[in-house]
Amino acid sequence: MTLEIKDWPLGRIGELADIYNAQVAGLVPHCYPITPDWFSAGWHDPTNTDALPSFPDGCVLVGLREGKKRGFAHVRVGGIMQSGSLLDGGFIHFLTYEVGHRDVGEALLKQCEQYSEDLGADTMHAFDGRFYRFHHLGYPLASDKMGHVCGLLGMNGYTIADEGEMFMEYLDYDVVVPVLPRPACDIQVSVKEGHGELPNITVEAVHLGQDLGNCVLVSCGDYNGAHEAQNRIFVKGLWVMKEVRRRGWGRYLLMRALDEAYRRGYRHTIISTAQTNYRAQLFYTNYGYRVTDMVYGFVKQKAPLADAPGRRPA
Ligand SMILES: CC(C)(COP(=O)(O)OP(=O)(O)OC[C@H]1O[C@@H](n2cnc3c(N)ncnc32)[C@H](O)[C@@H]1OP(=O)(O)O)[C@@H](O)C(=O)NCCC(=O)NCCS
Repeated sequence: MTLEIKDWPLGRIGELADIYNAQVAGLVPHCYPITPDWFSAGWHDPTNTDALPSFPDGCVLVGLREGKKRGFAHVRVGGIMQSGSLLDGGFIHFLTYEVGHRDVGEALLKQCEQYSEDLGADTMHAFDGRFYRFHHLGYPLASDKMGHVCGLLGMNGYTIADEGEMFMEYLDYDVVVPVLPRPACDIQVSVKEGHGELPNITVEAVHLGQDLGNCVLVSCGDYNGAHEAQNRIFVKGLWVMKEVRRRGWGRYLLMRALDEAYRRGYRHTIISTAQTNYRAQLFYTNYGYRVTDMVYGFVKQKAPLADAPGRRPA
């Protein structure tokens, strides 16, 4: 049974949509089927300014068995700004392979590592979350539902890079907008066309020119053109000024924003928060959201020479 790892031209990356659709879309929550055009446009979000301009396009690899595509990986070497500091190394932006074809996954991973090592990378990052915007609503990380991919990374020395992001969903949502915690406050609703069929919505509470809090809703159709994404709204941000928390502003802003969305045709809502943001998790579960998924990035440090396989202790 022939196994082949092939360099894939970046200009034809959209043709990998069929692999994504067969292995990820619909199986991993919040990941919808993608067309080749959306795939080509979405793997590299031009609005993402985190990637340094010198970051090269890298290498796309496709794993084939008996000529049939069974997986792909996309790796680049360069530097990325994270929280104001430079993070460099090899970045596997995406890796997927068909369940049961671990040798394909393993060969793709090894080739990504070799490519990065040849270009001098010491550290490997996998699912670094900066590209593949269409995957998991702009959080292109590895879901624990991609158990075989996470397992492969773990078996090859990768560890979870940082705390994960927890996703929650509320299907057929129902909201009642509460009374304003402070009636004199000005509520500003802005509605903007995005890439989805329905618009993106932001609700802000302003008092005497000061922003007390806001709720930012983005259409799931903004990330992916699939039909099933169009009436789903993603709560991209909810924030209340520290001094006025626990007075009902969070609840008001979320309910008001979801109500605005419902009136415009949205029926389902998704929200995410950091794995250890327990306050937010309690808050969201109170209002109908239920946990659907956890997503993570992975990292692997190159073994120090003393620990390198085959090297004898002095
Ligand atoms: C999460 C966040 C938006 C909540 O905003 P908030 O204005 O404090 O929310 P509310 O006041 O509506 O409700 C918060 C809690 O206070 C309670 N509460 C509301 N009014 C209250 C009052 N008068 N007295 C006592 N408790 C009150 C609510 O029941 C709720 O408690 P529960 O979640 O344990 O049931 C806010 O903590 C925040 O901005 N955090 C930082 C940013 C963040 O983490 N955002 C979410 C990231 S995804």
